[in-house]
Amino acid sequence: MKLLLLGKGGQVGWELQRSLAPLGELVALDFDSTDFHADFSHPEQLAETVLKLRPDVIVNAAAHTAVDKAESEPEFARKLNATSPGVVAQAAQQIGALMVHYSTDYVFDGSGDKPWREGDATGPLSVYGQTKLEGEQQVAEHCAKHLIFRTSWVYAARGGNFAKTMLRLAKERDRLTVIDDQFGAPTGAELLADVTAHAIRDTLRDPAKAGLYHLVAGGETTWHGYARFVLEQALAAGVALKASPGAVDPVPTSAFPTPARRPHNSRLNTHKLQTTFGLTLPHWQLGVARMLAETL
Ligand SMILES: NC(=O)c1ccc[n+]([C@@H]2O[C@H](COP(=O)([O-])OP(=O)(O)OC[C@H]3O[C@@H](n4cnc5c(N)ncnc54)[C@H](OP(=O)(O)O)[C@@H]3O)[C@@H](O)[C@H]2O)c1
Repeated sequence: MKLLLLGKGGQVGWELQRSLAPLGELVALDFDSTDFHADFSHPEQLAETVLKLRPDVIVNAAAHTAVDKAESEPEFARKLNATSPGVVAQAAQQIGALMVHYSTDYVFDGSGDKPWREGDATGPLSVYGQTKLEGEQQVAEHCAKHLIFRTSWVYAARGGNFAKTMLRLAKERDRLTVIDDQFGAPTGAELLADVTAHAIRDTLRDPAKAGLYHLVAGGETTWHGYARFVLEQALAAGVALKASPGAVDPVPTSAFPTPARRPHNSRLNTHKLQTTFGLTLPHWQLGVARMLAETL
């Protein structure tokens, strides 16, 4: 079996290089790859790459993920998040490939306090959310055999992340202020990549499993709860901090104005994914503790 991974250098792309490798021959590309073009700002090149390589499975981890920046460059965000995934989906359909794509809780308006289900009405608050929604629609419309995973609050051990920022700030300052009115589940790139590999195998055996799924770690928290947990873990590991977990003050989203609006309720209901694929999604604290153990 041949797999094509697009966006190999991102948080999820990096972990997919590991989790997809045992499934078959893996061709992993980034926007600056030279043998085959995979720059999402040139959609026409993507179709050519897919048709030349003729993979059985295409996994797209490339995206315009700079949520605030997207507000000032909507057409570029649309090209990367919607137009190009649509072109890849058309090429995938032409060669009968399974296409895997990632989306976001930002497709919802964040109202209420119930975990969103796959069929709930969408209502993006930002350019990023709107273009990601259009991307989902493009993929679903053009490629019958697709898996679209909506996820949230993605972190990885590699590169910068929220936990590392909180640790740095807690070493520099006596007190921190962190938002406590956005609810969601921090989800590890490792978990996303592992579940993707399982779901690909299952869907190739049973194409009826193709579709849209919510995929996040178990449980829920706020950015404030997340920050406190990170500092608790750091203290337990013997890291010297100026700000203790008790010195993290909760503030509303309005305390940190940003160009893009974020949803308050980013909870995603994962029942469909867990029952369809027979998988268990571990609690978010397990993944974060593991990432911290690797990086502290
Ligand atoms: N991060 C989150 O919290 C989050 C939450 C919900 C959903 N998601 C979704 O999950 C998926 C993976 O996200 P992630 O966290 O892994 O994001 P990421 O780390 O920002 O990775 C995105 C990748 O896309 C690449 N890229 C940027 N411009 C490109 C272009 N013109 N052509 C080809 N590749 C390009 C980036 O390359 P450079 O790094 O070199 O720019 C990067 O490797 C995305 O679909 C995202 O929308 C993410």
